[in-house]
Amino acid sequence: MAVTTAYDGLAHEWDAAAGLVYRPLARSLVAASPVALAGRLVLDIGSGTGAVAQAAAARGARVVAVDRSTEMVSYGSAQGWPAVVADVLALPLRGGVFDAAVAGFLLNHLPPAAALAELARVVCPGGVVLASTWAGGQRDSAKAAIDAVVASWGWVPPAWYQAMREQVEHESGNPERLAATAREAGLVSVRAWAHREDLGLLDSHAVVAYRLATPQIAPWVGALDPSARAELVRQALVAVRPHAPGWRPAAVLLAGRVRGQPS
Ligand SMILES: C[S@@+](CC[C@H](N)C(=O)[O-])C[C@H]1O[C@@H](n2cnc3c(N)ncnc32)[C@H](O)[C@@H]1O
Repeated sequence: MAVTTAYDGLAHEWDAAAGLVYRPLARSLVAASPVALAGRLVLDIGSGTGAVAQAAAARGARVVAVDRSTEMVSYGSAQGWPAVVADVLALPLRGGVFDAAVAGFLLNHLPPAAALAELARVVCPGGVVLASTWAGGQRDSAKAAIDAVVASWGWVPPAWYQAMREQVEHESGNPERLAATAREAGLVSVRAWAHREDLGLLDSHAVVAYRLATPQIAPWVGALDPSARAELVRQALVAVRPHAPGWRPAAVLLAGRVRGQPS
């Protein structure tokens, strides 16, 4: 499996389990827009099953969703917005047509500079680019506790995930570096900041379900027989209990504008 296909086959589980974490984060990202999005044309890029599209639509935006995974983007677009299957590095879209482009947890998958330049290209002068990534640096305690249990059962992180962490995270997960990259990509009025999402009292079951639905782990867990899987979940629940409820995952949020005045 490669990062290009990692999300294929996961849409339902992703939406139901990972969505409990990604949807609140998407609402925080959209709320960070420096301009109101009501009535605006917004591109949700790396849309997945549409957490950002949903949050933008709830604020009155007109949304177009793009993702490289046909299955993910089709699942989300059943909610009513147009969907395009494409790579962020080569968007089949005319330049300058969107009022905003929003990338929820996409820039941690690939070197951010080229992706940010492509987002800036499709947004009109004065328009907005928003992005979220996972914070780099210290390991998140809840994720680390679950990963340690899965690893103790023989799971080895796939090469694409290792590469993301080793080659991309030092830039995507650092607010200062990500902001500098966004400026180099041509954005102005750039802000990037550390953000801890308040997930309310998300219980241990939900945190374990989220982590086991991520593409680096889900295919491996899916290959276990039901009784082994139940035992793995039991052990993961014990491990994560000191960290949940009350877990607040650490993210980086970025907001910038495309140079120029809106017409
Ligand atoms: C972590 S998920 C985030 C989904 C959604 N934005 C959210 O916040 O819930 C990342 C998504 O980016 C997509 N993706 C990864 N690389 C991509 C690329 N180069 N171009 C377009 N989409 C990509 C994946 O298929 C996946 O759906």
